[in-house]
Amino acid sequence: MTANHSRRVYDHVLDMLSSEENPTPMVRLNKVTGFKHTQVYAKLEWYNPFGAVKDRVAANLLRDGEERGLVGPAQKLVEPTSGNTGMGLAMLSNLKGYELTTPLSTEIPAEKRVMLRFAGANVEELEDTLCPAPGAPEGAIARAMEHAAKPEFHMLNQYENEANFEAHIRTTGPEIWRQTGGEITHFVSAMGTCGTLTGNGRFLKSKSPAIQVIGAHPAEGHDIPGVRSLRQLEQTQLFKPEEYDRLVEISDQDAYAMCLRLNREEGIIAGPSAALGLLGALNAIEDLPGQVVVVIFADNIYKYASSFERHFPDFRVVSSTPSEPSPKERLMDALLDNARGGDGTTEIDGLVARLGQADAPMLVDVRTPEVYEKGHLPGAINIPLAHIDNQQDQLPEDLDQEIVTVCNRGVMSLTGLLLLQSLGYRRVRSLNGGTMGWQEAGYSVAAPAETG
Ligand SMILES: Cc1ncc(COP(=O)(O)O)c(C=O)c1O
Repeated sequence: MTANHSRRVYDHVLDMLSSEENPTPMVRLNKVTGFKHTQVYAKLEWYNPFGAVKDRVAANLLRDGEERGLVGPAQKLVEPTSGNTGMGLAMLSNLKGYELTTPLSTEIPAEKRVMLRFAGANVEELEDTLCPAPGAPEGAIARAMEHAAKPEFHMLNQYENEANFEAHIRTTGPEIWRQTGGEITHFVSAMGTCGTLTGNGRFLKSKSPAIQVIGAHPAEGHDIPGVRSLRQLEQTQLFKPEEYDRLVEISDQDAYAMCLRLNREEGIIAGPSAALGLLGALNAIEDLPGQVVVVIFADNIYKYASSFERHFPDFRVVSSTPSEPSPKERLMDALLDNARGGDGTTEIDGLVARLGQADAPMLVDVRTPEVYEKGHLPGAINIPLAHIDNQQDQLPEDLDQEIVTVCNRGVMSLTGLLLLQSLGYRRVRSLNGGTMGWQEAGYSVAAPAETG
């Protein structure tokens, strides 16, 4: 048999890569838009062979590198990634006999990191922001560049390589033009490297300059994998604001709420960045007859269980195959139970009454810096759990200094309490309810610049 796109029969998985003849589907949104006239279509990019919009980019980066003679047989590739480009590159590398190394941030969902290893990539995990930051000396981009300086490696560099947005000029843009019969009036996408927005924007405006190109981005300190805040975008070479008609900022809270609605009300298994893009569209576009909007839905929900657990605490799972706890785990549970009861904890109102007084306790926030930066108790210093023993210089010399440990809800802070006790501190307590309880009780949190 030969590849037959209308019957969806292919000779090789590479024939499944999207093109004008073999487009990813577009489906109209019927419930969540609230529009009567404007038609909004979601372009479902998880129908690409390796599960995301970035398969197009991975394929084009390799094609371009091969054509330029930069990528050859048994090539060692290195690419910093937030997961999806890595997945496309890993699978294509398997098919083409390349070896892929992907430095990435430990902030990326565990699902994506495991999946990349499963797909055969050498995953190097580093402390970096969710989206690799170009300037971070210890970050994924810097590590990739270190590798790339060695002659046997080649870095495709999706953050700067124009083959990234060209993928969309060659495939996504022409697909959309054809699928809408040239009636598209607005193109909308969430922004990471900006390949999607820049490439589609250029192609579609070349067909009809009146088409509006709208980019959606999250707020600073966000928790949506694959996309960048405005500050992070400004560090990205393929971000071309002069080519876009509108940029819209969307909060994590709104994006995750819309993600839930897309799944439950539309029956579309859209991931968080798809919801972010859709909200960008709904914020920027009016309900008028004749308008046809296309929003890129970059990938689906299956890589984001850990993100959903964070944003919807009710969905957290208790392990479905509980194993017998080890003696160490039993000891830890007993210690935590002990700390939870008795005078190991303190309540929010009790703490408020003490703050501002001369003998106020020191507040130690034990969450990760990224979470801490989103908001913390005024005056709290940040020593993440994993660093309590190597950041002792930030702790008081006086082992009788009173300390209150703080986290989101008062669970991790119990472990913080035990760790501080193990360092000899005699007057440590954990804040029941944590930072979220603090806010629910009507008290405000500080962002880093305001910390006293
Ligand atoms: C889930 C997800 N959404 C959106 C994007 C943004 O796409 P682009 O990098 O083309 O701006 C990415 C990029 O990696 C992504 O992984």
